[in-house]
Amino acid sequence: MKSKLIKDHNHIFHTKPALTVFAPGRVNFIGEHTDYNGGLVMPMAIDKGIYVAISKNDNPFLSINSTDFGKRREFLLENLTPDKEEAWANCPKGIAKVIQDNHYELSGVDITIEGDIPLGAGLSSSAAVEVGVGFALSELFGLNIRPQDLAFMCQQAEHDFTGAKCGIMDQMSSIFGKKGMAIKIDCKTLEKEEIPLGHKNINFVITNTSVKHDLSTGGYNVRRKECAEIFEIAKSISPDIETVSDFSYEKLLSKKDSFPETLYHRFHHILAENNRVTECAAALESNNFERVGKLLTESHESLADDYEVSCRELDWLVDNANSIEGVYGSRMTGGGFGGCTITMLDSKALEPYIASLEEYAAKFKISPEVYDAIPSAGARVI
Ligand code: GLA
Repeated sequence: MKSKLIKDHNHIFHTKPALTVFAPGRVNFIGEHTDYNGGLVMPMAIDKGIYVAISKNDNPFLSINSTDFGKRREFLLENLTPDKEEAWANCPKGIAKVIQDNHYELSGVDITIEGDIPLGAGLSSSAAVEVGVGFALSELFGLNIRPQDLAFMCQQAEHDFTGAKCGIMDQMSSIFGKKGMAIKIDCKTLEKEEIPLGHKNINFVITNTSVKHDLSTGGYNVRRKECAEIFEIAKSISPDIETVSDFSYEKLLSKKDSFPETLYHRFHHILAENNRVTECAAALESNNFERVGKLLTESHESLADDYEVSCRELDWLVDNANSIEGVYGSRMTGGGFGGCTITMLDSKALEPYIASLEEYAAKFKISPEVYDAIPSAGARVI
């Protein structure tokens, strides 16, 4: 990938890159739709992601060459705005804008971006673009942006330039990923804990429904609004809470009638999911794989029934996985409405699992793709 990246950059810009960067995508193991509620998540960075080559130029432009989109455009650095017609360039433009808004000085750059991660599949390709470009800019201009600050800048870019009001999980995973580890993050305190995932004879498999999800429209932002309403009601009951996740699960059960039915279900998912993350980390540590698998599947059911962000393709994949001997559990991962599942299985179950997906292709007339989820390191110069 790196030599192709350098070659492509050279070909378009007639200069060698000053540096090249890799920023990984992520798959969330458990803890879904909790990040923007001050809750717990447990993602891992994966070995697929976005490659960025960068060099300075002598003009006031951010020149972006996207190999995957087959496009190249120049944008005036001092006037970067989101553009629906040129959506492919919004993430790199967004992070360059937010970095400047934070009083870091940039001058003209040529950037080549390419990836080996499916776009819009719930593996955080857009966060990887923001992190990759942000990291490259920080290195190239010696800005020394603190990793945590970079994560927030990338999130801001996503909000402002794609319209998806995402939480902080994707950007944190792409920056703080560790080889062989999932990272448990408390999204209120930003405390991180590494959870080892390298267990003998256990595989983590990502299956892409091949149904594209777009978080900038529809359900995702609606959920965020619902959570703001939940917070108001919860705070009227427990004035001390600072986030939705500070409310106690037991109290929710006893105060069920205070919440409109839909909001109660959303809230139930969030608090139960936080508990599942804590339990899952403990179960992984004690090698209780049966329990881990059960928690994954419970998480899926809660996302499907209480949070209502699944779809029939995701549900089919999870049910199918759980019908195979040697599968511990399976769930949708990421924002939902399409995208991917993550399945934990015994290595012996891998072949039967993959073979079983033929039925999916026949039923939904789209081929699912399968990747090994390999927990990997975060953004770095390569
Ligand atoms: C998307 C968002 C994340 C997170 C997940 C759901 O991936 O970008 O911030 O909210 O959905 O867990």
